[in-house]
Amino acid sequence: MTERLVLGIETSCDDTAAAVLRGDTVLSSVISSQLDVHDRFGGVVPELASRAHVEAIASVVERALRDAHLDPTNPGLDLVAATHGPGLVGSLLVGLSFGKAAARRWDVPFVGVNHLAAHLVAPILEGAEERYPKVVLLVSGGHTELVLVKSRSNFEVLGATIDDAAGEAFDKVARFLGLGYPGGPGIDRMAKLGNPEAFAFPRALKDVPFDFSFSGLKTSVLRAVELNPAAKTEDLCASFQRAVTDVLVQKTMAAVVATGAKAVALAGGVAANSELRARLQAACVEQHVALALAGPDFCTDNAAMVALAGSIAYDNAGAHPFTLAPEPSLSLKD
Ligand code: KG4
Ligand code: ZN
Repeated sequence: MTERLVLGIETSCDDTAAAVLRGDTVLSSVISSQLDVHDRFGGVVPELASRAHVEAIASVVERALRDAHLDPTNPGLDLVAATHGPGLVGSLLVGLSFGKAAARRWDVPFVGVNHLAAHLVAPILEGAEERYPKVVLLVSGGHTELVLVKSRSNFEVLGATIDDAAGEAFDKVARFLGLGYPGGPGIDRMAKLGNPEAFAFPRALKDVPFDFSFSGLKTSVLRAVELNPAAKTEDLCASFQRAVTDVLVQKTMAAVVATGAKAVALAGGVAANSELRARLQAACVEQHVALALAGPDFCTDNAAMVALAGSIAYDNAGAHPFTLAPEPSLSLKD
């Protein structure tokens, strides 16, 4: 039997993305970034994001089909999957409506995908051996969650942030330090040049095993600059990043011990952080557990993960009706 041919569409935030998968194999993955649209505002402007998705979606999908060597007018797909939440409602509507229309046009089933569940399966796209149970640290601009993944389709949320997401903390601190948007890559670069012990920023919720809090840390960085206007940006970045990665690594490894997990995976945009990757790698070697690190292309928002999550969801529960609406606040518990 030939493996399922799936088109995935992702428009939950500021990237318009489409991808084609044959089984677990990525045949194409196209991402059109809106960075230049939002850059000067220091964050994503929802109305501009929706307009940019409308402009880009048809050509991004066509390119994904062509890159996969399919005929864009009659691609022979088995399934269309599009993110239906969480995210910005105007952005979600574009990909969701386009995906449904495509499925209708080609008379194939349609599934809506939970963007967070898609991040959880992204490490599979790297082709690494799948080991369960595994602890997945999902750290993005909107979410910070520690999840026990028991199989491709069965997971349990162990803990989450009670305020800002890790990526949001990177973005807010970067904006304050004038490092542009998104802030993670700029802080990551600067931190390499600074002293991570220059400032003793707080590590919050030490006694709560799997929950996180980053808003106090962000405030501490602002206060440090007020008290010490000559502080070097490199030192602030290095100390901030050390505080974030300390907490993320310590809680992830505590979850491994508590659950007896055989593997760890990193997902979401913050998984691109070089210090987080290196420190988690070292901790996993020490604890003798496997570590699956998605490459930067599959850590950040992409449609290949949406196609894979869609295929898994279809195996479990079949197609969604064409009445499926966007769910801006969808969580992993839904
Ligand atoms: O998963 P993602 O692409 O979009 C969301 O669904 O949020 O994650 C984007 C987030 C942003 O907050 C960005 O600053 C952060 O990922 N990020 C990083 C790095 N690259 C991206 N954070 C820390 N270090 C990085 N190298
Ligand atoms: Zn994301």
